[in-house]
Amino acid sequence: MRKVTKDNITEVFAGYFGEDTDPRVREVLTGLARHLHDFTREVNLTHDEWRKGLEFLEWAGRITNPERNEFVLLSDVLGLSSLVDMIHSVPGATSSSVLGPFHVSNPPPLAVGGDMKRNFDGQVVLVEGHVRDQQGNQIANATIDIWQTAPNGMYSSQDPDQDIHSFHALMTTGEDGRYAFTTVRPVEYTVPNDGPVGKILDAAGRHPWRPSHLHFIVKADGLRSLVTEVFPDDDPYLDQDTVFGVRDDLIMNYVEQPAGSFPDGFELTGRVPEAYSRVVFDFTLAQATA
Ligand code: BEZ
Ligand code: FE
Repeated sequence: MRKVTKDNITEVFAGYFGEDTDPRVREVLTGLARHLHDFTREVNLTHDEWRKGLEFLEWAGRITNPERNEFVLLSDVLGLSSLVDMIHSVPGATSSSVLGPFHVSNPPPLAVGGDMKRNFDGQVVLVEGHVRDQQGNQIANATIDIWQTAPNGMYSSQDPDQDIHSFHALMTTGEDGRYAFTTVRPVEYTVPNDGPVGKILDAAGRHPWRPSHLHFIVKADGLRSLVTEVFPDDDPYLDQDTVFGVRDDLIMNYVEQPAGSFPDGFELTGRVPEAYSRVVFDFTLAQATA
């Protein structure tokens, strides 16, 4: 077909594939071209807008480095990362949510009951729960990678005043599948908005805030690894997370506990005479697919 028109270009595109093209590659690229072409016709994209779009992608490429990936952030604020998560969620298992850029490799091990608060200010928060499979079995030796912001709203990798491992830990569940640690409340913060993605948020009249949350990556043999976050039910940004990460089953609450009631079995046992708060959150992992 030699005569390419604005109406048949998608069909012409589909005809250019080699005969032995992987069927999934063909399906994804054909769908992508179909939607891009439809989008271009639908909004009547001008040359100027098309050029601005390409300049945007060039800028994102220029500022992307091993510490900052502007393309992932773009995917996050467009809702693409969350849509992929939700499409592949397994009913009955804990929902996944965005990874974000602040995870560090080789987090320090922390025993069950250990403390992440160290000398930071703020009320002690005790977080605990179990890792289970979908049959309700408690999973021993599951690993839980935990990270969060310090009370100043910064992750360790953003803050020269913090040790790179502060508010990062790797815990392994005991025979009963239990995890537990003490910390302080993470706080709400803004996604990096000094680059091209920030310009999009501005242009759309959107704020860059995320509700406060604890990040977790939970892994266990034979079960699907889970990347997720949990959010307190009273956070002001719960219904307007700029990266669309909140799900109903990822909501927790901080329950105030009276002074003098801090339990045994924790690194801070005997050192928390005042009131503290407690969060209980259980993880349910889906069966791994072959
Ligand atoms: C975060 O939760 O750390 C995060 C997620 C997406 C974009 C930026 C930050
Ligand atoms: Fe985060």
